[in-house]
Amino acid sequence: MSFKLVEEAKPRLNRSELAVPGSSPRMFEKAAQSEADVIFLDLEDAVAPDMKEQARRNVIEAINDIDWGEKTLSVRINGLDTPYMYRDLVDVLEQTRDRLDLIMIPKVGTAADVYTVDCIVTQIENAKGRKRRVGFELIIETALGMQNVHEIAAASPRNESLHFGVADYAASVRARTVKIGGVHPDYGVLSDPDAKGERSYFWADPWHYAIARMVVAARANGLRPVDGPFGDIRDEEGYRAAARRAAVLGCEGKWAIHPAQIPLANDIFSPSEAEVERARRILQAMEEAKREGKGAVSLDGRLIDIASIRQAQTLVAKAEQIAKSRSG
Ligand code: GLV
Ligand code: MG
Repeated sequence: MSFKLVEEAKPRLNRSELAVPGSSPRMFEKAAQSEADVIFLDLEDAVAPDMKEQARRNVIEAINDIDWGEKTLSVRINGLDTPYMYRDLVDVLEQTRDRLDLIMIPKVGTAADVYTVDCIVTQIENAKGRKRRVGFELIIETALGMQNVHEIAAASPRNESLHFGVADYAASVRARTVKIGGVHPDYGVLSDPDAKGERSYFWADPWHYAIARMVVAARANGLRPVDGPFGDIRDEEGYRAAARRAAVLGCEGKWAIHPAQIPLANDIFSPSEAEVERARRILQAMEEAKREGKGAVSLDGRLIDIASIRQAQTLVAKAEQIAKSRSG
């Protein structure tokens, strides 16, 4: 281990993160009763410019009046380049009580963007005597943000998670696609001809680099990396595949832009019973190895060592968190 210790953000379940447009109050109650781990009420891109003020009023009322249970509740404010951002912060934080957990900042480009929002939020919290310090969720969705992701991740003690906003990111880097997430037929590799002269084409993941880079920045700063939207809400298998590959790369969850995507994310980002069982056996085997003074042992024909303990502990801790959320 390095001498530098990475402090982990407040632990929260973040398997599914439901986006709810602030201009659609009829969706709020249903969202509150859903199985989503995190809900963000959106003041940004799901809201048309002439609805911005009404959406803000709806969101304030919803934070105050709806029973959100144990859910993590967030508000996505407008970007720092818009005329709405300061009032989103001032009105939402001045006119709500302490129920709000997080503020989601879109299109973060530099560490100074986060610092600016932190400064405003801190002033309001202190002036109004808010008791619960709000955390930040940051969307990495521009070339600038991806370039500066490491400084951004370290920019405020309020930071809790980084999110990959694939739609805006594609636009920002001018990727040749109009889809929201998922694969693209032009992004693949062609094998050399085999003995029969036949070649195979393999589709690849156009977002691998971006997600992997964001995951490194998040984890190096104790934050949760979360994969963003998947646009085709009818393509359940496509969503599952996208979520699985994000999980393999280290993400803790994925957005749901429709309630139908919530159970898919919850399922994929929850460790399976077999995984938890194996993790418990690894911990047990390593306990025994320790007693016998060994650093590594084999379990089911595979080598396990001290690194396996950390992976197993993380998995068991997640399973316990999920079990707690079910009973709570
Ligand atoms: C999310 O905000 C995205 O742009 O994908
Ligand atoms: Mg976006």
